[in-house]
Amino acid sequence: MMLQNTAAEFSNERSVKYRQAVSNVQHIWQDDLEVMYSYLAPSTGEKILEIGAGSGFFSFPIAEAIGDKGMLYALDPSADQLTPIKEANLPNVFPIIASAEDFLLPGQVDKIWSRGHFIMWSIKPDL
Ligand SMILES: C[S@@+](CC[C@H](N)C(=O)[O-])C[C@H]1O[C@@H](n2cnc3c(N)ncnc32)[C@H](O)[C@@H]1O
Repeated sequence: MMLQNTAAEFSNERSVKYRQAVSNVQHIWQDDLEVMYSYLAPSTGEKILEIGAGSGFFSFPIAEAIGDKGMLYALDPSADQLTPIKEANLPNVFPIIASAEDFLLPGQVDKIWSRGHFIMWSIKPDL
Protein backbone atom coordinates (compact mmCIF):
# COMPACT_ATOMS: atom_id res chain seq x y z
CA MET A 1 0.00 0.00 0.00
CA MET A 2 1.21 3.51 -0.76
CA LEU A 3 -0.29 6.91 -0.12
CA GLN A 4 0.03 9.47 -2.89
CA ASN A 5 -0.95 13.07 -3.36
CA THR A 6 1.43 15.75 -4.59
CA ALA A 7 3.45 16.33 -7.76
CA ALA A 8 7.21 16.25 -7.36
CA GLU A 9 9.85 18.64 -8.56
CA PHE A 10 12.77 16.34 -7.69
CA SER A 11 12.13 13.84 -10.46
CA ASN A 12 13.30 12.36 -13.73
CA GLU A 13 16.91 13.19 -14.69
CA ARG A 14 17.52 15.16 -11.51
CA SER A 15 16.55 12.16 -9.42
CA VAL A 16 18.61 9.75 -11.54
CA LYS A 17 21.73 11.92 -11.24
CA TYR A 18 21.20 12.31 -7.50
CA ARG A 19 21.07 8.54 -7.04
CA GLN A 20 24.12 8.03 -9.27
CA ALA A 21 26.14 10.57 -7.32
CA VAL A 22 25.26 8.97 -4.00
CA SER A 23 26.09 5.46 -5.15
CA ASN A 24 29.29 6.44 -7.00
CA VAL A 25 31.03 8.14 -4.13
CA GLN A 26 32.22 5.82 -1.41
CA HIS A 27 31.55 6.98 2.15
CA ILE A 28 29.57 10.00 0.96
CA TRP A 29 27.97 11.75 3.93
CA GLN A 30 29.53 9.39 6.47
CA ASP A 31 29.61 12.30 8.92
CA ASP A 32 25.90 12.88 8.35
CA LEU A 33 25.21 9.23 9.07
CA GLU A 34 27.04 9.53 12.35
CA VAL A 35 24.97 12.60 13.18
CA MET A 36 21.83 10.61 12.43
CA TYR A 37 22.91 7.71 14.67
CA SER A 38 23.88 10.11 17.40
CA TYR A 39 20.88 12.48 17.42
CA LEU A 40 18.03 10.39 16.04
CA ALA A 41 19.43 7.31 17.77
CA PRO A 42 16.98 4.90 16.13
CA SER A 43 16.39 1.82 18.23
CA THR A 44 14.50 -1.45 18.11
CA GLY A 45 10.75 -1.17 17.74
CA GLU A 46 10.54 2.59 17.21
CA LYS A 47 8.17 4.23 14.77
CA ILE A 48 9.94 6.99 12.83
CA LEU A 49 8.82 9.49 10.20
CA GLU A 50 11.43 10.55 7.68
CA ILE A 51 10.54 13.74 5.78
CA GLY A 52 12.14 14.03 2.34
CA ALA A 53 13.46 10.48 2.45
CA GLY A 54 14.77 10.70 -1.11
CA SER A 55 16.42 7.54 -2.38
CA GLY A 56 16.92 6.13 1.09
CA PHE A 57 20.42 7.16 2.11
CA PHE A 58 19.22 7.37 5.72
CA SER A 59 16.11 5.23 5.35
CA PHE A 60 17.95 1.93 5.01
CA PRO A 61 20.22 2.40 8.06
CA ILE A 62 17.21 3.60 10.07
CA ALA A 63 15.17 0.58 9.00
CA GLU A 64 17.98 -1.74 10.05
CA ALA A 65 18.27 -0.04 13.42
CA ILE A 66 14.56 -0.21 14.26
CA GLY A 67 14.26 -3.83 13.14
CA ASP A 68 11.18 -5.84 12.27
CA LYS A 69 9.15 -4.52 15.19
CA GLY A 70 9.70 -0.90 14.16
CA MET A 71 8.21 1.10 11.30
CA LEU A 72 9.73 3.83 9.17
CA TYR A 73 7.33 6.09 7.28
CA ALA A 74 9.42 7.34 4.34
CA LEU A 75 7.82 10.50 2.98
CA ASP A 76 8.78 12.19 -0.28
CA PRO A 77 6.73 13.90 -3.02
CA SER A 78 8.93 12.36 -5.71
CA ALA A 79 8.04 8.82 -6.75
CA ASP A 80 11.32 8.71 -8.68
CA GLN A 81 13.31 9.51 -5.57
CA LEU A 82 11.50 6.84 -3.59
CA THR A 83 12.13 4.13 -6.20
CA PRO A 84 14.98 2.34 -4.37
CA ILE A 85 12.90 2.30 -1.18
CA LYS A 86 9.86 0.92 -2.97
CA GLU A 87 11.92 -1.69 -4.80
CA ALA A 88 13.54 -2.87 -1.56
CA ASN A 89 10.03 -3.63 -0.31
CA LEU A 90 11.12 -3.87 3.31
CA PRO A 91 8.41 -4.95 5.74
CA ASN A 92 9.29 -2.18 8.19
CA VAL A 93 9.38 0.71 5.68
CA PHE A 94 6.19 2.37 4.51
CA PRO A 95 6.77 4.74 1.56
CA ILE A 96 4.43 7.72 1.29
CA ILE A 97 4.44 9.81 -1.88
CA ALA A 98 3.53 13.23 -0.49
CA SER A 99 5.02 16.53 0.56
CA ALA A 100 5.58 17.67 4.13
CA GLU A 101 2.95 20.36 3.66
CA ASP A 102 0.22 17.87 2.91
CA PHE A 103 0.32 14.27 3.99
CA LEU A 104 -1.56 11.69 5.97
CA LEU A 105 0.40 9.74 8.55
CA PRO A 106 -1.09 6.29 9.14
CA GLY A 107 -0.17 6.31 12.83
CA GLN A 108 1.72 8.01 15.65
CA VAL A 109 5.51 8.18 15.57
CA ASP A 110 8.20 8.29 18.23
CA LYS A 111 10.68 10.41 16.28
CA ILE A 112 11.05 12.45 13.11
CA TRP A 113 14.14 12.63 10.90
CA SER A 114 14.81 14.94 7.98
CA ARG A 115 17.95 15.91 6.09
CA GLY A 116 18.00 18.11 3.01
CA HIS A 117 14.43 18.98 2.25
CA PHE A 118 14.08 22.12 4.36
CA ILE A 119 16.75 23.71 2.18
CA MET A 120 14.52 23.10 -0.80
CA TRP A 121 11.60 24.76 0.99
CA SER A 122 13.61 27.92 1.56
CA ILE A 123 14.16 28.53 -2.15
CA LYS A 124 10.49 28.25 -3.05
CA PRO A 125 9.12 31.75 -3.74
CA ASP A 126 5.56 30.98 -2.60
CA LEU A 127 6.49 29.82 0.90
C1 LIG B 1 18.47 16.82 -1.31
S1 LIG B 1 17.26 15.52 -1.28
C2 LIG B 1 17.67 14.73 0.28
C3 LIG B 1 17.16 13.30 0.33
C4 LIG B 1 17.55 12.51 1.59
N1 LIG B 1 16.97 13.11 2.78
C5 LIG B 1 19.04 12.44 1.73
O1 LIG B 1 19.58 13.08 2.63
O2 LIG B 1 19.70 11.76 0.92
C6 LIG B 1 15.79 16.42 -0.90
C7 LIG B 1 14.54 15.55 -0.94
O3 LIG B 1 13.46 16.32 -0.42
C8 LIG B 1 12.32 16.02 -1.20
N2 LIG B 1 11.37 17.12 -1.04
C9 LIG B 1 11.30 18.28 -1.76
N3 LIG B 1 10.28 19.03 -1.35
C10 LIG B 1 9.70 18.36 -0.34
C11 LIG B 1 8.58 18.61 0.49
N4 LIG B 1 7.86 19.72 0.35
N5 LIG B 1 8.23 17.69 1.42
C12 LIG B 1 8.96 16.56 1.57
N6 LIG B 1 10.03 16.24 0.81
C13 LIG B 1 10.39 17.14 -0.13
C14 LIG B 1 12.84 15.84 -2.60
O4 LIG B 1 11.95 15.14 -3.45
C15 LIG B 1 14.15 15.13 -2.35
O5 LIG B 1 14.00 13.73 -2.42
